[in-house]
Amino acid sequence: MIAAMARPLIDGPIAARSRRRGAHGAPARTARRLALVLIAAWATFLSMPVLLASTAARVDGHSELLLSLPAAGSILPVGPTQISLVFSEPIEARYSALDLSDGSGAVILSAAGAPDLTDPDVLSVDLAAPLPAGSYMVTWHASSAADGHDTTGFFVFGVGSVSLSGTTQSVDASGSLHPGHDSAHAAAEIQGKAAAYGGVMVAFGLAVLALLVLIPGLGRVPRGSAYGAAVGLIAAAAGCLVLIVVGATGATTTAPDYLTYATGSRAGVLLSARLVLGLLAGLVVLVLARRGRPAQALLAGGLAASAEIGLIAAGGHAAAFSSPLPVAVDIVHVGAASIWLAGLVALGALTDFGGRTRLAPAVLGDLVRRFSALALVSIALISATGVYAAWIEIGDFTAIRSAYDANLAIKVVFFVLAVGVGALNYLDGGRDRPWLGGLSKRLLLETCLGILVVVVAANLTSGSPTGTDRPVAISPSDATLAATNGIGLAIEPGRPGPNRYLVELPARAASGMAFSLDLVRLDQPGGAPASLPLQVDPTDATGRTLAADVDRLPAGSRWTATIVETGLGGTPGSVGAFSFALDEEGISAGRQTPPIDPLVVVAILLLLGSLIGAGLSLAGRSLPRTLPATSRVAVLGGSLVGAVLGVAILVTGAPR
Ligand code: HEM
Repeated sequence: MIAAMARPLIDGPIAARSRRRGAHGAPARTARRLALVLIAAWATFLSMPVLLASTAARVDGHSELLLSLPAAGSILPVGPTQISLVFSEPIEARYSALDLSDGSGAVILSAAGAPDLTDPDVLSVDLAAPLPAGSYMVTWHASSAADGHDTTGFFVFGVGSVSLSGTTQSVDASGSLHPGHDSAHAAAEIQGKAAAYGGVMVAFGLAVLALLVLIPGLGRVPRGSAYGAAVGLIAAAAGCLVLIVVGATGATTTAPDYLTYATGSRAGVLLSARLVLGLLAGLVVLVLARRGRPAQALLAGGLAASAEIGLIAAGGHAAAFSSPLPVAVDIVHVGAASIWLAGLVALGALTDFGGRTRLAPAVLGDLVRRFSALALVSIALISATGVYAAWIEIGDFTAIRSAYDANLAIKVVFFVLAVGVGALNYLDGGRDRPWLGGLSKRLLLETCLGILVVVVAANLTSGSPTGTDRPVAISPSDATLAATNGIGLAIEPGRPGPNRYLVELPARAASGMAFSLDLVRLDQPGGAPASLPLQVDPTDATGRTLAADVDRLPAGSRWTATIVETGLGGTPGSVGAFSFALDEEGISAGRQTPPIDPLVVVAILLLLGSLIGAGLSLAGRSLPRTLPATSRVAVLGGSLVGAVLGVAILVTGAPR
């Protein structure tokens, strides 16, 4: 696909010149080389997903079930009148429901429940009457309205004097890749996403490149770049079609209804919009290119691709946050990556993908120095927005804890390798020094690494990030108590509605010790304090976590929470004190922040880089080893984007 997009770029002035110089030898060699690159790219594109998909564990769960009321494994004194399931992401009403059956397996409710009107992440059902004594199993199926991934699972609870044996809930698949999909679906999902990402990125990047590198450097828009954009958009549309099939198949346990999925689910509608837009724009670009109007073709392709990037971000994990900032950061991330990737593909094609560079050295040097300015700014924006996205998705850079984290690390390694090779090209400045076999081979290597990053990105976004369902840690309001006892408090999910308090002890509680959580609501003076008994959390094998569920934490409320330990002697003592507040979106005060907040670091670096870059550019300075004209536009454009993002991140803080 990438080589097919680049092929016509050869048809520009370069091929004409080589034809003049020795008609037969060179073009045949170029065709052979392009065929080789085409096969290599296609083999990578087909095999990598299968390889990556083979790591896909058939584990159910993507928009993670964070908690349920009644809780899994709990035994209630009286029967509940409502069952609520709280997920880590908003759920799709059409594809989310639960079944309730009793201990004998008799079905009490089937395909029941609907998203809560006050919280789209909650699936709940009201029961006509409290459930009588007995054990019950809830099996559930949910589809994420954010990115269309599907989930299934079960949990068991009891009422009255019953005992529950065996597993009381399904495995939590947070951090896994391709949850809910078998390897075949996983491979198709990666291929579909890689085509959908790669095609759009090349179409968008080529438009920017034509404007800032190809026209100034070659004196016109090569018709080939327009063909490249058309192929990219059409390939992206094909990728979206594959994703609709995968999505519809995963969304239901019965025969998939593709049309309903494509027109009736949020993820499906976004994919359909991308499919139609990609196809129509691809055809328009193709027609304009054939009519010899490559500039208009690229403009149309670039505009369509920028809209597609918006749709990609609106259908990704970034959309699971109520704040719009993660989506905006994602758009900049993919946009900057598009310029970098398309530049590699275009220069790769202009140097016959590892073949002999037949551009006049001056022309090649000019193009490389122009692209270097764009690449430096793009790499800075890719890294800053990538770190931002990584922090909000995994929330912990200290260890690789899941397949998702490992995949992200692999992506960064490929990127760093590509940037390393790119640094050689930058230092070479188009003089074709023999490092790693010369400029065209280095460009080919860098392009292949860039393609690998896109394929790994496709695998990554098919995973279930570990950070989004992490309970919100509350900072202690009494530092001495905290230091003495080392007891932590976290709230899951930390949004208005049903929540679970999680108390972490430094060690397993001694038997006979009792703990409770005493809550006082500060915004309703005179309100009765509540004391919740804390039970050992059955999901934590260390026995150090205690839990208590509440069916409703209201928005706009402020609380103090005291952890009370009652020893064997029966004398209660306070061992931890916390305070927190909630607004419409979640915990608005009392949230524990890391000693060094990566989001603040990213924001400051973006602001500093933008100010220095813009200042130097306005003072007439340009990035070293680049062409001043391109450097000025790239740096000023990048600084504007960087400054806006930096301020937005500082002002809005961690997205919720
Ligand atoms: C320092 C380097 C980078 C880091 C840390 C990084 C990190 C991330 C993260 C955390 C996400 C969100 C994943 C999710 O939604 O679950 C993401 C998305 C993405 N990244 Fe990167 N990335 C980097 C470089 C790149 C490069 C070089 C490319 C392309 C050449 C790229 C292409 C993408 C794409 C296409 C998405 C998907 C956007 C979506 O579906 O919403 N990234 N990246």
